Amino acid sequence: MNMLERSPDGRSALDASMPIDLDFQATTRLDPRVLELKLPYLSGPAGNPHSTSHLHGIAALKAVETAREEVADLTGASADEIVFTSGATEANNLLIRGAFGAKRKNGRRTIVTATTEHKAVLEVAAHLKTEGAQIQHVPVSEYGLIDLDRLKGSVDDSTALVTVMTANTSLSGCPCQNCHPHGR
Ligand SMILES: Cc1ncc(COP(=O)(O)O)c(C=O)c1O
Repeated sequence: MNMLERSPDGRSALDASMPIDLDFQATTRLDPRVLELKLPYLSGPAGNPHSTSHLHGIAALKAVETAREEVADLTGASADEIVFTSGATEANNLLIRGAFGAKRKNGRRTIVTATTEHKAVLEVAAHLKTEGAQIQHVPVSEYGLIDLDRLKGSVDDSTALVTVMTANTSLSGCPCQNCHPHGR
């Protein structure tokens, strides 16, 4: 059976001879309901949501803004806090560079992160050393959990930001369990 074959409900069929990948956070098949909603924009007339001097652009902008509001509702944010990016690497770059750029003016130059972060975080932080950042890597236990006392002890008046992933897809755990009170 071909991995790309689809069953009647639109999901791709599983091939028992293939290894099973449980890392659905890194990548996953598209939910058929999402596919259905996206198809008119992917296969119909193309509209650029930033070109709103014509009908196709206006339709695309409406769809993007509806999606922004729905994501905001789902996450308890306000729509203007939702920024769509091409992927996680771009999002991490935007956030880490943006926060560091804003905070360093006030003398906050330390980025606190975990040794088990994705390279899309570790490499941006490492690069920012060339702009004066100092990086504090908090270690994790044998189970991939952050030592919260070490994390707390790493934060002081020089901290620009703390960046720790909510869930580690490779270790299948939440490294920062109970971090929330310190994480804001
Ligand atoms: C925490 C984290 N950051 C960044 C990435 C890279 O994602 P993308 O390919 O969307 O840039 C991944 C991918 O697994 C990830 O888990």
